[in-house]
Amino acid sequence: MTIQAAVDWQGWMQRWDAQQTGYLPDREERFNTMFHVLDTLLPPNFVALDLACGPGSISQRLLARFPQARSVALDFDPVLLTLGQNVLGDMNGRLRWVEADLTQPDWSEKLGETQFDAVLSTTALHWLLAEDLVRVFRTLGALVRPGGVVLNGDHIPFGPHLPAFDKVAQQYNETVQTVAFTERGVENWESWWAALAQEPSMTPLLAERERRFAAFKATERNERNPLSNFYQAALQHAGFTQVGVIWRNMDNQIIMAVR
Ligand SMILES: C[S@@+](CC[C@H](N)C(=O)[O-])C[C@H]1O[C@@H](n2cnc3c(N)ncnc32)[C@H](O)[C@@H]1O
Repeated sequence: MTIQAAVDWQGWMQRWDAQQTGYLPDREERFNTMFHVLDTLLPPNFVALDLACGPGSISQRLLARFPQARSVALDFDPVLLTLGQNVLGDMNGRLRWVEADLTQPDWSEKLGETQFDAVLSTTALHWLLAEDLVRVFRTLGALVRPGGVVLNGDHIPFGPHLPAFDKVAQQYNETVQTVAFTERGVENWESWWAALAQEPSMTPLLAERERRFAAFKATERNERNPLSNFYQAALQHAGFTQVGVIWRNMDNQIIMAVR
C-alpha cells in the first residue's frame, strides 16, 4: 500500500487527460456528444459499461453528469486501473472496476452484471483485431438490453478505397499533433509512459503491464485496422437494430448502435 501513498495519482490523471487531448483536441466534445445520446435515450438511473476504460475517463465524467447512474469500468491494464482506482475510488458506490481481457472469451463473466443500458468506449477498440471485435460485439448484443445503446468513439480509417479521404484525415491529425506535442510541448503517449516509469514504486505494475500486452504488436494491429463499415456490420450482426455514425471529425467518429 506504500505505492499509493508515494504517487501523485491526481497529477498523473491530469497528465493522462492532457496527453490524450493532445491527440484529440475535441476529446471533451466527443464525451459530451455521447452523454447527449444517453440523456436523450435513457432514463436517469441507467447502468453503463465503460469498455477498455483506461483510468476511467468516461466513468469519471459520466457519473458527474448523471447523478443517478452507475458505471462498471473494465480494462486489462494494471497500471491504468490502479491510477483510476486511486483517483476515483468507487464514486460513492456508483463505480465498480473490473480487470478483464476483451480478447478472452470469459471477459463478460467478470462483470458481475448481466444487463446494461449503455456501453461506451473511447480510443480503445482499435487495439482489437477484427475477429476479436466481432466476438466482443456479439457479447454486447447479449449484454445490452433492448432499447439500450453502444457508443464507440475512435479513429477509424476511411480505407484503401478512399485514399484521398485518408490523406486529408492523416494530414489533419499530423497538424493537430504538431501543434500539441511540438509547438505547445504537451507530453505524448510515449513520454507519459516513460515519465511514469521514473516512479520507482510503479516498477512491478509496469512489468505486469508489459507481460500482459507482450502479445499485442501495435504496428501489425494498425495495419489491419477494421473500417467503419466493418464495425457497423458487426454490430448489426450482433443484434443492434439501428447502427450509424452519430458524430465525426475527419477519421475520428462515434459509432452508435441501438439494441
Ligand atoms: C488509449 S486508452 C483509452 C482509455 C480511455 N477510454 C480514454 O479515452 O482515456 C486504450 C485502452 O484500451 C485498453 N485495452 C486494449 N486492449 C484491451 C483488451 N484486450 N482488454 C481490455 N482493455 C484493453 C488499454 O489497456 C487502454 O486502457
